Amino acid sequence: MDQQTPSKKRVAVIPGDGIGQEVIPQALKAIRASGADVEFSEFDWGADRYLRDGMTVPPDGFAMLERDFDAVLAGAFGDPRVPTNIHAKEILLGMRFKMDLYANVRPVRLLDAALCPLKGVGPKDVDFVVIRENTEGVYTDAGGVFKQGTTDEIAIQEDINTRKGVERIIRYAFEYCERNKKLDGSPRQRVLMCDKSNAMTHAGGLWQRVFKEVSGEHPQIAVQHMYVDALCMQMVRDPRPFDVIVTNNMFGDIITDLAAGLQGGLGMAASANIHPGKTSMFEPVHGSAPPIAGKNMANPFGAILTAAVMLAYLGLTKEAGKIEGAVLEAVREKKATSDIGGTLGTREAGEWVANFVSRG
Ligand code: NAD
Ligand code: IPM
Ligand code: MN
Repeated sequence: MDQQTPSKKRVAVIPGDGIGQEVIPQALKAIRASGADVEFSEFDWGADRYLRDGMTVPPDGFAMLERDFDAVLAGAFGDPRVPTNIHAKEILLGMRFKMDLYANVRPVRLLDAALCPLKGVGPKDVDFVVIRENTEGVYTDAGGVFKQGTTDEIAIQEDINTRKGVERIIRYAFEYCERNKKLDGSPRQRVLMCDKSNAMTHAGGLWQRVFKEVSGEHPQIAVQHMYVDALCMQMVRDPRPFDVIVTNNMFGDIITDLAAGLQGGLGMAASANIHPGKTSMFEPVHGSAPPIAGKNMANPFGAILTAAVMLAYLGLTKEAGKIEGAVLEAVREKKATSDIGGTLGTREAGEWVANFVSRG
């Protein structure tokens, strides 16, 4: 994921809906405290704006992000007042698809044994990454409904898998494995492809063939395959063998919420939406969490860790390291929200981290 250039970085900030508006300010505080040479521009794209004037993304919105910014930091999108979720689709999936951010990189790291629901599992046991295809699959929303409302109704949801799309995400996973180390400094060694090729044979066949082909170019990397159902079972029984997992859009969505459970819940999980060489987008894995929104309860650490992933991607590794270190300390000292055993509010937990970062 490395991409390096000097000088001030320009970051577009889109907090979005619900707890996105609470956690993103905490991520910005941490970035400022780290001394990173970053300039923010905030955008109000989200449910409020959509309900006010019908705008989801301005006409040149994606082109503007690509032209004027080095990265995008987003919160979450989804609001019960917009039951169709049309704004989330246009903004969030819009960025992923229209900016062609094909690699959704979701690191899974357990910061402290106390956060993991599994017995006897500690930080050294959970340090893997899910590389999720981010521009195809069932998320293309191709299909249609026919004879709606009748007893003959037909709903078709297509699973689109292109040779180009499958090949580039599998290549990304192998290259990620080669270039990135585990937290303890040891090399990554294995790429596991997760699919459902026993039932979905057409798409599965393509993934299988491409995986075999690309793995042949990386003889030093061990390869593995698991069906997604078996992988889910393995993840909660014993996550230790996982290293780099590559999978399609929908399976990647599902297994990363499961994996978030290993890390202490959705409030702890970070993610990056990458197209190497292009403006990429960074967001916590969680959604807008309407039931806890506006209550100063949401865990800001997933968003703060996402900020660290973004800074590292922008080449600001020292600043990223300070932020990760501060979150680790906050978790250990329980200077955190109630979902991970603390007693602080969103703002107070964010404040604690920012103070720790500025001292570091
Ligand atoms: P969610 O991630 O918002 O919440 C799932 C559960 O996790 C809830 O119990 C919630 O309270 C908890 N949770 C999530 N983030 C938390 C945090 N930071 N701190 C503490 N607890 C946290 O998922 P959902 O309930 O399925 O979806 C709610 C809305 O968000 C929907 O509109 C959905 O489409 C949207 N969504 C958006 C994104 C995104 O923008 N990336 C991701 C997932 C869901
Ligand atoms: C995620 C979310 C999105 C997804 C939704 C909001 C469309 O769940 O980022 O994981 O399914 O990709
Ligand atoms: Mn999801």
